Amino acid sequence: MPTGSPLDHFRHRLTAALAQALGIVPESIKLERPRDPSHGDFAFPCFQLAKERKQAPPALASEIAGKLAGLEHISAKTAGPFLNFTIDRTELARRVLTAAFDPAYGGGNEGAGKTIVLDYSSPNIAKRFHIGHLRSTVIGMAIRKMCEARGFRVVGINHIGDWGSQFGKLLTALRRYSSEAALDAAAATGTAIEHLHEIYVHYHEDEEKGGDLAKELAAESRKWFLDLESGAENEARRLWKKMTTLSLAEFERIYRRLNVTFTEIRGESAYEPDLAPTVRRIKEAGVTRISEGALVIDVEGSEKPALLQTGDGTTLYLTRDLASVFYRKETYKFWKAVYVVGSDQRDHFRELKLVVKRLGLPWWDDIEHAYFGMMRLPEGKMSSRKGRVVILEDVLDSAVEQVRTLVREKNPNLQHADEVAEQVGIGAVVFNDLKNDRRRDVVFSWQEVLNFDGETGPYCQYTHARLASIVRKSGQTPSAEADPALAGEGAQLLLAIGRFPETVALAAERFEPHLLASATVELAQLANAYYRDHRVLDAGSQQLVAARLALVEAARRTLARALALLGIAAPAEM
Ligand code: ARG
Repeated sequence: MPTGSPLDHFRHRLTAALAQALGIVPESIKLERPRDPSHGDFAFPCFQLAKERKQAPPALASEIAGKLAGLEHISAKTAGPFLNFTIDRTELARRVLTAAFDPAYGGGNEGAGKTIVLDYSSPNIAKRFHIGHLRSTVIGMAIRKMCEARGFRVVGINHIGDWGSQFGKLLTALRRYSSEAALDAAAATGTAIEHLHEIYVHYHEDEEKGGDLAKELAAESRKWFLDLESGAENEARRLWKKMTTLSLAEFERIYRRLNVTFTEIRGESAYEPDLAPTVRRIKEAGVTRISEGALVIDVEGSEKPALLQTGDGTTLYLTRDLASVFYRKETYKFWKAVYVVGSDQRDHFRELKLVVKRLGLPWWDDIEHAYFGMMRLPEGKMSSRKGRVVILEDVLDSAVEQVRTLVREKNPNLQHADEVAEQVGIGAVVFNDLKNDRRRDVVFSWQEVLNFDGETGPYCQYTHARLASIVRKSGQTPSAEADPALAGEGAQLLLAIGRFPETVALAAERFEPHLLASATVELAQLANAYYRDHRVLDAGSQQLVAARLALVEAARRTLARALALLGIAAPAEM
């Protein structure tokens, strides 16, 4: 696949030459990156093929080396079972610099004509936005940007959890433990969601006591939710709307800080009018049955059938997701519908897919759950009900505050210090999340979020600012036309810059922002090493200054692009 990477050229040359020497098709040639960069830029391990050909790997490596032809600008060397290749440094610099100065560097077009409907963030109304919600929000936004860079059309949907039986519970709680007036008063001081959160926790404490109290609560909640689902303009609906509006205001505040946007904010309640037709459609397909009064559908590989409608006629999360996936297919004709949702919902998305499959719809397998691991606290699982959560705004505020203090110490004359502190504090929190393989569970640690050294967002941002400052101080406009024979000295940095497009392509294809996050740290490390080892501004000759500046600027641009795709700002000074 062409990735738009300046290294593609060399890779094609190599695979063609190897294929010819071996008499096999180029597609079967797998090149690797040598673990030790001093061995070369690409490696071809001979183990597999040697086994097939009943030869010793080192013997095969030497044999191939003797047959290689047409390797312009690439030198080959055997090292035991490996064939290692090194690109001519001048040619490397020439190609990488030209590519990296292109403002669209990192972009590609393998997504042209394909639409991805991406479901991310999707928090629940009336709950504080906690550190767990951050995952879906920032992973989703990074996937969106990376896929857009690779030519996909991405429809970003925030499927707000604004419907369901929990609203019956909230309305009960509001009546029992608080009042509308108290909620209004809390809203006036910006603490409405905290207030709702408290009464929700209170409700669950009472519910857990069991006995008559729990039964009364359950009955009252059911009645409220039935009122809500009746569609009438009643008291339940009026209060629900108020809670929704208040919650959305809190979410908006957070999205603005995180620079997260959506094509469409369309909560579960928006599918209300579609629910009856959806249930009818599934019934008419003849795949449902009644079980204990409820409407269910059997799905393969599972003993428990999927529940579509309860005995008293209320619908479920799954029903609303079915209605929404039909809406998404019909409205956007998606190539893939991707859900950035926690791994605790794997069964749910498996059911969703399998119900669509049972309906005989060929696109069932285009539904993809890009799940992420759970955020845990050192003391255990987070739980809104139990009030055991880390509130995202607290984390953002602490990170920003800590950066502000650091900036005051280290750079007291910095202009726009507050803006920079916000960008770097947020960058720290976002990067700290994105750097983890999305599938793995993570334990939240204050110490880790507030650490700005090592493999962190602020380290990458700081490196970017350093590069920007070198360019600024030079008083020159760096140019890709600088002498490549001189720029070739920064080979490892050039290679890292050169890999950027293929990293974006792979991270987009797999919906894995952490691949880009780790490549970004590596790029920052190599850029740091480069300006530590090479004097740029007083390099001696003007040609050498120009060549080093070109490399510094190429690295700066690539870092800025990478951070932008991850949703992180790259201030020019900090
Ligand atoms: N609101 C849900 C939650 O917080 C996530 C919704 C994900 N999207 C979806 N279409 N089901 O758990």
